[in-house]
Amino acid sequence: MLAPMPKTKTLSDGNVMPTLGLGTWKSRPGEVKAAVHAALRAGYRHIDCAWIYGNEAEVGDGLRAAFDEGLVTRDEVWITSKLWNDAHRPEHVEEACRDSLTKLGLERLDLYLVHWPVAHTRGTMMPETRGDFVTLDEVPLAETWGAMERLVDAGLARSVGVSNLDAKRLAALSEGARIRPTVNQVELHPYLQQPALLEAATALDVALTAYSPLGSRDRAASMKADDEPVLLEDATLAAIAEAHGATPAQVCIAWAIQRGTIVIPKSVNEGRIRQNLEATQLTLSADEMARVAQLDRHRRYVDGTFWTDGESPYSLAELWGE
Ligand SMILES: NC(=O)c1ccc[n+]([C@@H]2O[C@H](COP(=O)([O-])OP(=O)(O)OC[C@H]3O[C@@H](n4cnc5c(N)ncnc54)[C@H](OP(=O)(O)O)[C@@H]3O)[C@@H](O)[C@H]2O)c1
Repeated sequence: MLAPMPKTKTLSDGNVMPTLGLGTWKSRPGEVKAAVHAALRAGYRHIDCAWIYGNEAEVGDGLRAAFDEGLVTRDEVWITSKLWNDAHRPEHVEEACRDSLTKLGLERLDLYLVHWPVAHTRGTMMPETRGDFVTLDEVPLAETWGAMERLVDAGLARSVGVSNLDAKRLAALSEGARIRPTVNQVELHPYLQQPALLEAATALDVALTAYSPLGSRDRAASMKADDEPVLLEDATLAAIAEAHGATPAQVCIAWAIQRGTIVIPKSVNEGRIRQNLEATQLTLSADEMARVAQLDRHRRYVDGTFWTDGESPYSLAELWGE
């Protein structure tokens, strides 16, 4: 008998995070309240949010409805949010966190992440000119991190972490930290497995959360390559799914949890929300895990070019450490 899928992961600071969460990027304000409510009703205990998704108030409405109905208590749910790139300066971090808390209707977050190792001037959502960017020499990540640590001291976030950090930056930030990053949220799926990053993070006792675990097909056309392979149409995933009476999406989710990562598939469809949770019941054999390992092709769907195009002082080589 194979071990049952772990439902939670204990982070380096002792906090216990559910391994499956609901993603909310691109979930429109009009639909995300129902999605959050449906997820909590189905049994999800983890919602992944971010200030930049522009829907935290509606996520908060969904949470409040669930709390009011007695579906779950606040303490039973893990809520993650993320610091946007325009608030990296230490004096802006608490204000940005409080803004997310107000929108979500919460007093504290379970996890607050630095969304990207990219900084903008305050008030710039998406940079258009060189003047909209701030370099990491001007506002080092370590300084932003100091302000993140103070959020834990102040009780505004139980755990703090990062997102989109390569292994080198993760190690450097961990070394100098008073409170070490607990989580690095990065793109991970069978076409972008990042085994070296997983190994490096594990050695640092940093948990990896897998974003875009289903291949993020609902990204804007401007973010997609014409020739991009469609993860959920992969023949090997389809064959493994068929053997279990499951779907390729469920195979991706089960694979992510079985390799020790946390996973946050996005859906606003009640049936798929339930289907994704049911994937936690699926156990892949060692042979199936090995077949999925063969699918790696280093395909980034969220490729970061939106931070490096035009007049940007940032480069992809620096961003991904590749
Ligand atoms: N930290 C970061 O920089 C970062 C970047 C990207 C994403 N994220 C986080 O990770 C979450 C997930 O990533 P993502 O939104 O990019 O993409 P994803 O979860 O890989 O894919 C979402 C797409 O898959 C569809 N889908 C969901 N369940 C399905 C199923 N069982 N079968 C078939 N299709 C299914 C969804 O459609 P329906 O909604 O119609 O079901 C949607 O089109 C985000 O929502 C966000 O919370 C973080």
